[in-house]
Amino acid sequence: MKTRKTLRVAALLLALALVAAACGDDEGSTTTAASGDDPTTTAGAMTDQVEVFSWWTGGGEAAGLEEMIKIFATTDADIEFINSAVAGGAGTNARAVLASRLQANDPPDSWQGHAGQELIGTYVAADQIEPLNFLYDQEGWLDVMPETLIPLISKDGNIYSVPVNIHRSNVLWANPTVLADAGIAIPTSLADFFTALEALKAGGMDAPLAMGEQWTSMHLFESIMLASMGPADWTGLWDGSVAWDSAAVTKGLEDFATALSYTNSDSSALSWQDAGQLVLDGTSAFNIMGDWQEGFFRELEKAPQTDYVWAATPGTAGNFQFLSDSFVLAKNAPHRDAAIAWLTVAGSNEGQDAFNPVKGSIPARNDADRALYGEYLLSAMDDWASDTVVGSLAHGVVANDSWKSEIDTAIGLFLLDGDVAAFQTALVAAQAASG
Ligand code: GAL
Repeated sequence: MKTRKTLRVAALLLALALVAAACGDDEGSTTTAASGDDPTTTAGAMTDQVEVFSWWTGGGEAAGLEEMIKIFATTDADIEFINSAVAGGAGTNARAVLASRLQANDPPDSWQGHAGQELIGTYVAADQIEPLNFLYDQEGWLDVMPETLIPLISKDGNIYSVPVNIHRSNVLWANPTVLADAGIAIPTSLADFFTALEALKAGGMDAPLAMGEQWTSMHLFESIMLASMGPADWTGLWDGSVAWDSAAVTKGLEDFATALSYTNSDSSALSWQDAGQLVLDGTSAFNIMGDWQEGFFRELEKAPQTDYVWAATPGTAGNFQFLSDSFVLAKNAPHRDAAIAWLTVAGSNEGQDAFNPVKGSIPARNDADRALYGEYLLSAMDDWASDTVVGSLAHGVVANDSWKSEIDTAIGLFLLDGDVAAFQTALVAAQAASG
């Protein structure tokens, strides 16, 4: 017990250091246990607890999690919910803290991961999580979870996580007033996008495309590569059927360089919410970000169609670049039964319909109550059902952590030197190193 406590403190200190270094005043909080005014922690008769780890601390995300915690408080009133969220978009800080806790054999009971290679190639490969087939059988989840998702959370017949949502990564958010004033329609192709960005720049807008810290450039990268290469070639990059030294990749990298040339010079100091705010303020016209951006806009009480509009990233209509937040059960979870109770809520219709309308995602389950969802999310549900589905790189679907981290390093260098040939060489090497 004493050891666990010491390790927890060490993890907290690491989290504080990472957050201070990476976030500035972004999003505020660091690791937080649920506070006294949280309805889930006030009941006096609690006998058990569950520690749940995520990076949902602000900007619509914490609010979504709170809604699911409220459901948990009704189904499992005797279990205290310890919210160990660590701030920082896309889990950049949280996942470093998680890795050090797992290494120290001090796992949270359950944590947020991404369906796909992040889960299979990282946590399953390291034998850090338990299979959940028994829960799928008990809850009948195979009948309600999308068939496309199950292989991405399974290995050798074992299912390893409970997906709570589907997010779309290839979304263009725009300020409708800025576009109307400039006489610009929402661009639908990359060529039109670059023409629109150039016109806005010529009209005096310094940075028409808002961007934040480094992971958001990987996010922009995956959108532009999909637009430039198309879905078959994008997917082929990850199964080895399309070469990283191909001309199609060179063209994609050149398009990425063009997009970057319209972004703000202070991007590394900004969170994804800050970048979204630049669009709301009309300082920038566009931002390419996952649909959690809408959760943030709605939390600010901004109105769809008036304060912001959206479309698929130009050149990607008909494609749904997806990711899925998925909760796991730690191997040797300190509170295994309580963790199973939490996962049961995370996979339930009630839990997902409470969480997703606020989080800005659509439920992983296919039996949502559409009446609870706003205009954007209804369009995302329809697109998910009919579009070509491809995976996200920045959010864990197509590459495991070690490959992704090599790509991240290459992107970091490219942001500094803009050398397309060197970038492509580094990406070829990253694939070779990934095995
Ligand atoms: C993603 C995650 C989303 C959202 C986003 C920004 O990786 O899947 O749920 O949290 O990061 O933080």
